[in-house]
Amino acid sequence: MQATSFDKAKIKIVLLEGIHASAVKVFENSGYSNIVTAPKSLPFDELKSTLADAHFLGIRSRTQVTEALLAHTPKLAAIGCFCIGTNQVDLEATEVRGIPVFNAPFANTRSVAELVLGEMILLLRGVPLKNAAAHRGEWLKSAINSFETRGKTLGIVGYGHIGTQIGILAENLGMSVQFYDIESKLALGNAVAADSYHQLLETSDVVTFHVPETEQTKLMMNAEAFSHLKKGAILINASRGTVVEIESLCKALESGDVTGAAIDVFPKEPKSNQDEFESPLRAFDNVILTPHVGGSTMEAQANIGIEVSEKLVKYSDNGSTLSSVNIPEVALPSHAGKHRICHFHHNEPGILAKINDVFYSENANIAAQYLQTTKNVGYVVTDIDQSSSNNAFEKLKQIPGTIRSRILY
Ligand code: NAI
Repeated sequence: MQATSFDKAKIKIVLLEGIHASAVKVFENSGYSNIVTAPKSLPFDELKSTLADAHFLGIRSRTQVTEALLAHTPKLAAIGCFCIGTNQVDLEATEVRGIPVFNAPFANTRSVAELVLGEMILLLRGVPLKNAAAHRGEWLKSAINSFETRGKTLGIVGYGHIGTQIGILAENLGMSVQFYDIESKLALGNAVAADSYHQLLETSDVVTFHVPETEQTKLMMNAEAFSHLKKGAILINASRGTVVEIESLCKALESGDVTGAAIDVFPKEPKSNQDEFESPLRAFDNVILTPHVGGSTMEAQANIGIEVSEKLVKYSDNGSTLSSVNIPEVALPSHAGKHRICHFHHNEPGILAKINDVFYSENANIAAQYLQTTKNVGYVVTDIDQSSSNNAFEKLKQIPGTIRSRILY
């Protein structure tokens, strides 16, 4: 365990919105004890007073971190979003204050992969249709249109974290896996890259989407794409609601060109569990509809708790900003035997020279130096001999353009 300049018992960590207990465990195991937790988000005034002396903040999606709030958080050093998205945080306002924001973009990969796998098995057997009929008292006992997964071809659009996991799991069921990605990707297992998007659509029994939301992926499954889909195929979308054109999917379901679908994400989703879910897909028994829960499992919550708290601890102990979404990313080794000075500054010409002038004037031997910049800020981390570190640290804070500086012993 590395010491920070600050007594760890004095470092206040505030974890809101019922963040998984796995996060508290990570902080405690790393020597942090001043941890305040709350099961929900806090009203603005309470939030302001709770954060007035806080160094680290953990939130999920409900707490809005705005310019107005940041004006009242003078000690805040970093924010952990214990979720995937970071829209709830003003990323520019935190960037110019030198406050890194971390999240856990991939902690729920397995959860999504498992849901898709289960849906694929059920859809190939026609279970959603038979299940809905049975709930109405109908008895659809028949093998027609019921298939095993073994020997079928799965087409994965977007072969990233989730797509690759699904590919591996599907191969274990005996499926042939092909994928389409705009990047050139290493094929795992026996998967093969399709020649083109259209070729994948034409030759897959099940097509599943795992792409991000971009201009290119917007409605990539539109009427024209549906015209290329193998007749009778199954379609799954647990990526983003903008990817599949719902109107075209409805037409393909009506015509029987698509025999079943599973959709977890929608162009318009209810804001809360109290609001009605509106979609023309509600009319189809052969469509599995889930309320954007692809990544929502207890395991994913626990993983998120660990991943984000570990990033906060690493930043606190070692200065590493790796995988921060708003701050220059600097990956740092440990600094045993040296003192480490972390310096955030506005990205203006000449600041690095001024920083190194300070070390020169203090006769401090630089053991290692790391620098990254974004458009607005620079982050420079310097490991120096212990004897001269305190004087240099005090002088660095005086350099015009400095946002904040920390020393780690
Ligand atoms: P990732 O970034 O690891 O993989 C995305 C892949 O899509 C990359 O390989 C990328 O090169 C590829 N790609 C980008 N544009 C493309 C295009 N136009 N055509 C083909 N491939 C393209 O992302 P990850 O973690 O696998 O997530 C995939 C999607 O799943 C994201 O949209 C994410 O928001 C969504 N997601 C949904 C969840 C849910 O609850 N339903 C939970 C977690 C993620």
